[in-house]
Amino acid sequence: MNIIIAKSYDELSRKAANFIISQVTLKSSSVLGLATGSTPISTYSYMVKKFKEDEVNFEDVISFNLDEYIGLGKENNQSYRYFMEENLFSKVNINENNINIPNGLADDIEKECISYEERIKNAGGIDLQLLGLGRNGHIGFNEPNVKFEAITHKVELDEDTIEANARFFESAADVPTEAISMGIKTIMMSCKVLLLASGKNKAEAVKALVKGPITPSLPASILQLHRDVTLILDEEAASLL
Ligand code: GLP
Repeated sequence: MNIIIAKSYDELSRKAANFIISQVTLKSSSVLGLATGSTPISTYSYMVKKFKEDEVNFEDVISFNLDEYIGLGKENNQSYRYFMEENLFSKVNINENNINIPNGLADDIEKECISYEERIKNAGGIDLQLLGLGRNGHIGFNEPNVKFEAITHKVELDEDTIEANARFFESAADVPTEAISMGIKTIMMSCKVLLLASGKNKAEAVKALVKGPITPSLPASILQLHRDVTLILDEEAASLL
């Protein structure tokens, strides 16, 4: 595991953007796995900046987002589709047809999960998967006590995740309780993984991810077995290492 400790959230974001841009520079048709949450927001801003400065071209990039809330569509400002449009897609030249995000409004969620996984396979698999980290150690929406062998599937959100994500909604009661998420197996099959964590409230999860036992109760701990993982942390998130 390659661990990079940045002095600040800003430095973390610049390094992460450069990492992703290098991937796209080396392979213009890269398949990127993308993440939501507050952590990657500034990474996406730096990617937009570099695009505007003509330093990166997203024309041939294919993207697959990790997850989406069930019941929220792209017009809902809390959906991950909306988030991605706001923070990245509408600001760079990615081709609309190359954007993939699970459809949280699908009539048949089971079928949507199967087809999402197939689309990833048909694209040749994910070259670089970006991840945030839940304070309970979740990645995507793979909550504690996850099945490591799971592929894209429907998940019930953990109480802690609902509470953590309530800050984006009017109240905790408005946070959807279910989501579609790539599974741990989907994530582990990516060629490269880049995980970002910022702030004191992630320090325990970072410590368990790096030093703890590999256990379904801390889903991110499985990354210890991935062959090409980079963590970019700020000093607070790395404070217990
Ligand atoms: C959500 C997302 C995760 C994300 C996590 C952490 O639950 N499903 O993909 O990593 O939140 O979010 P934040 O970066 O806001 O702490």
